[in-house]
Amino acid sequence: MAVADSNDGTRAAFAGKPILVTGAAGFIGANFVLEWLARGLGPVVSLDKLTYAGNLDNLASLANDPRHVFAQGDIGDGELVAGLLQRHRPAAIVNFAAESHVDRSIHGPADFVTTNVIGTFRLLETARAYSDGLSAADKAAFRFLHVSTDEVFGSLAVDAAAFTEASRYQPNSPYSATKAASDHLARAWNHTFDLPVLITNCSNNYGPYQFPEKLIPLMIHHALQGLPLPVYGDGQQRRDWLYVADHCAAIRAVLARGRIGETYNIGGNSEKANLEVIHGVCDILDAERPRQGGSYRQQIEFVTDRPGHDRRYAMDTAKIAAEIGWAPAESFATGIAKTVRWYLDNGGWVERFVSGAYRDWLTKNYSNR
Ligand code: NAD
Ligand code: TYD
Repeated sequence: MAVADSNDGTRAAFAGKPILVTGAAGFIGANFVLEWLARGLGPVVSLDKLTYAGNLDNLASLANDPRHVFAQGDIGDGELVAGLLQRHRPAAIVNFAAESHVDRSIHGPADFVTTNVIGTFRLLETARAYSDGLSAADKAAFRFLHVSTDEVFGSLAVDAAAFTEASRYQPNSPYSATKAASDHLARAWNHTFDLPVLITNCSNNYGPYQFPEKLIPLMIHHALQGLPLPVYGDGQQRRDWLYVADHCAAIRAVLARGRIGETYNIGGNSEKANLEVIHGVCDILDAERPRQGGSYRQQIEFVTDRPGHDRRYAMDTAKIAAEIGWAPAESFATGIAKTVRWYLDNGGWVERFVSGAYRDWLTKNYSNR
């Protein structure tokens, strides 16, 4: 059933035409697809390779929805993607597909280069061939939105001004280096080949359907399982936290009103130290699901820091606010309360996702710290 539109102009911009969403079975992609369809904005073709991070369970509610098509495959598979584009004639491609976890990029960077750099390159080429074959009117309306991260800007000193769209790219991890490379490719495909590219750089997302290897769902899951809550280093690294529904709204707004060739920072205006976030999660759990023997904070353990760990990210969102009229609706307090509630209500989702492979990852990442 369609819910009230957020009046972000997406309906008018896309007029019910299909869009192609890559990485649609992942955390943000799934939230985006579910919200797009809930708003009745038009059909969606979802493409996902279903790596360890992809979970078709996230899209299970769409199983019988005729407006949704799911294709399993790689963004780097030009033949497959060209076939999807020819069959469905989307008015936009939203590229969420990526290897996305910094810690995994330290243990094994090769997949990050393959998907984030080469995969994005191949997807841009396939999109360019499709876009060049469109009628003048359809080409003018077509958009390729590439989803990126604040991590491409590197690490900020504690008293430095937040990143703007003009900040220098200084990626520090294999993950952020490959995302930076993909941003440069997307930019060049606009500048050189006239592909109508938009790039968004967002801060740390949190909310429903996030795989429990990232900070917030990992802390919730481990707290409830009675496992240690591993804090890297001194826990004073700072991140800006963006509720995933706010991020999805921002992407819809940029699709509708963003200027081609521009980049837009998206943030939650919620900068916090990691320890503050972890304490916040423990406090909500203490109230919602009291622990025998006292607070969940007792499970906190300080562990060896992540190599090359960026100290601070912060986003200046003045450009998207002024040009597009977007601002986050959730504060960290409201967003984290909704998130913890979702994980408490969806224990089955977590259990189905947390397979043997997940346990192998915990051993690899945490046993030698
Ligand atoms: P995720 O890891 O949860 O999901 C990524 C999805 O992409 C998975 O479903 C995976 O199966 C799929 N995928 C991986 N390689 C693929 C390939 N070669 N072809 C097709 N599909 C492939 O990640 P997420 O948190 O949903 O992030 C989505 C995007 O947002 C990524 O581009 C990420 O860099 C960016 N981003 C995320 C955050 C965050 O906090 N989660 C912050 C900033 C930017
Ligand atoms: P993460 O969710 O991996 O996102 P990113 O590294 O892309 O910002 O981690 C968020 C922060 O939490 C980061 O500073 C690393 C820290 N962290 C821990 O302290 N312990 C953990 O177990 C994890 C997964 C992350």
